[in-house]
Amino acid sequence: MRKQYAEKDKMKILGIETSCDETAMAVVEIDGGEVIVKSNIVSSQIATHAQYGGVVPKLAAREHLENIRKVYETACQDNSYDLIAVTNGPGLAPALLIGVTFARTMAWKYDKPIVGVDHMAGHIYSNWLTANNHAFPALNLLASGGHTELVIMTAHNKFEIIGETLDDAVGEAFDKVARMLNLEYPGGPAISRIAKDGNPLAYPLPEPMKRSAGLNFSYSGLKTAVLYLIRNITGEDRELTESEQADVAASFQRVAVESLISKTRVAIARHNPQSLMLSGGVSANTLLREEIKKLGAELDLPIYIPDIAYTGDNGAMIAVAGYFAYKSGVQDQWGSLAIDANLRLGHNLKA
Ligand code: KG4
Ligand code: ZN
Repeated sequence: MRKQYAEKDKMKILGIETSCDETAMAVVEIDGGEVIVKSNIVSSQIATHAQYGGVVPKLAAREHLENIRKVYETACQDNSYDLIAVTNGPGLAPALLIGVTFARTMAWKYDKPIVGVDHMAGHIYSNWLTANNHAFPALNLLASGGHTELVIMTAHNKFEIIGETLDDAVGEAFDKVARMLNLEYPGGPAISRIAKDGNPLAYPLPEPMKRSAGLNFSYSGLKTAVLYLIRNITGEDRELTESEQADVAASFQRVAVESLISKTRVAIARHNPQSLMLSGGVSANTLLREEIKKLGAELDLPIYIPDIAYTGDNGAMIAVAGYFAYKSGVQDQWGSLAIDANLRLGHNLKA
């Protein structure tokens, strides 16, 4: 049953995100077309997981549990929000469970409507935090630590995956290559930082899926090629020099970004979108941001890229995605909203 909130034009949405290693909440006010971020709190667990070189699900859940109340109190002055939006998948099950349980409890306690949000839809909607005039159909290039997808969005809350990675996600490849280069976790920012001093053409690396006509990605072959490249350079009896390290990082980054751009180019030719959007943690990458802008300029296609502040996981993007899901008629129940660690964009179209 819909509540009276649906009739309100202006809505305040509490967005809750705990799918991975950030405990994040935001309050976003949407008034007609205007999106105003009232608060946006991200409590990162990077320091905890960095010592293990990646996210440890049990530790993530424990930290979410320890931090969630504090994050809520910092994000919300009071309970005057009209809707609770919470990531219920995809992600780490123990981590998702903390956010969803908290959200359900608040929905029950304060009698608020609740919607479960697909984390990847959240990333897509990070683009609404900076502009709201996106033309449909929109092509989305989603590049994160867990996913690499090309998604056609025909309308609000209507998604179709048209291409995806067959193995590692691009962010995961950045993280794994960073580990090979003895750089800290997470690897994406570390690689892009040292790549600035490297020669992107120093080493030839194979562009993944170049010969495949489809729209899928693959990053495990590129990752292995980097491993063999490093072994070749060092003969396995010394460390890489700083300049070799920078050259490997820059060469890997160039090929990883080229692969994203060339599949996006094919997708545009086939699907003729009216706008192009980038999102996900990897959308913080400077080279990728520059290349996607060039592609848009070349094809005369409007381009949307989230502010750096909203490229990583945050509650504001979940709030906006929740708002548009709710406006499209989605509403869950506090008593039954479940997590789905393998949630897939577009499942709402098949129902
Ligand atoms: O979206 P996100 O915060 O979490 C997931 O939903 O997975 O993405 C995290 C990923 C990590 O793999 C991280 O290394 C990558 O985004 N990343 C970057 C950059 N900043 C973060 N990759 C490349 N260049 C960056 N500047
Ligand atoms: Zn994410």
